[in-house]
Amino acid sequence: MTTLEGVNVLITGGAGYIGSHVSRLLIESGHSVVSVDDFSTGLAERIGSESYELKLENPDAESKLASILNEHGIDTVIHFAARKQVGESVEKPELYYKSNIGGLLNLLSAMKTAGVKKMVFSSSAAVYGMPSVEQVDEQSPTNPINPYGQTKLIGEWMIDNAKTWGLSAISLRYFNVAGTGWSDLADKQALNLIPIAISKISHGEPVDVFGDDYQTEDGSCIRDYIHVMDLAKAHIDAISHLKNPGNEVFNVGTGEGSSVFEVLAELKKVSGIDFEMNIDSRRAGDPPKLVASASKIQDSFGWKSEFGLAEIVATAWESRES
Ligand code: UFG
Repeated sequence: MTTLEGVNVLITGGAGYIGSHVSRLLIESGHSVVSVDDFSTGLAERIGSESYELKLENPDAESKLASILNEHGIDTVIHFAARKQVGESVEKPELYYKSNIGGLLNLLSAMKTAGVKKMVFSSSAAVYGMPSVEQVDEQSPTNPINPYGQTKLIGEWMIDNAKTWGLSAISLRYFNVAGTGWSDLADKQALNLIPIAISKISHGEPVDVFGDDYQTEDGSCIRDYIHVMDLAKAHIDAISHLKNPGNEVFNVGTGEGSSVFEVLAELKKVSGIDFEMNIDSRRAGDPPKLVASASKIQDSFGWKSEFGLAEIVATAWESRES
């Protein structure tokens, strides 16, 4: 992790699973953090800094944010706050445009007013859609296939256009984030494979596998699972690389793919429970394989993931709700 001179950071979505990990890492490294969150999915007990309850898409958010930025002498914003459920985004696209795009617009306007010119943005591998390559790099075409992924790509464009007033930004395209750094900050929403599987096992239910007939070695989908602490460290490195106006994009993944069956096998090992698997049909919109090329972030920041699937699954399991 790069050494970073003291920064005053505003974190949007500081009560969320990822936002709270990054916030705690910054605070423990001696930086100042202020959080805003609307607490729609975030948990107040995760916040370890001064915080404000604020819905970024509300009409009064721009002026409130500008005051917070000025009052705390903020120099850098890390923007996590967003809706992130792919299925929900297909059902209710307007909700995603309002929150993810409307919220970002208010935030950028407030930053412009307050003269805050550094930003790290939570983007997503969802901007790539259904790539057909072994590893996607940042030059791969962007072709999001759902409103969630679209809002992340539009967000990157909005941020890039803010270079006209001097914004220097980095968008981190997260792959499949999982695991726990501090057990009180664990991912409590069962919305992704590992937390869903843990919740099912805890209730003695079988775990669904969405498709075993893909053109992959074991027939299940392959993803690049990245430990939340590795991801958190990438944010610290990103802040120290914010220099020129414009938006630069980086994948944050390990470069290693794991299939659904491999993840579940690891979970059986860690839990000691030989739970049942229910082979279900394919889930709409799932790319068979989504694995990052992590070369750019490694070469530019010297960042490298430290943890693999074993630590991801073990830390998620150990921090489960009992
Ligand atoms: N899966 C199952 N059973 C389940 C849940 C998931 O088999 O009960 C499978 C999915 O079909 C997929 C894999 O596990 O093949 C991972 O699914 P997740 O829902 O955990 O994650 P996704 O890959 O669909 O999406 C996640 C984030 C997105 C992000 C994307 C980037 O939720 O926000 O990773 O890779 F864009």
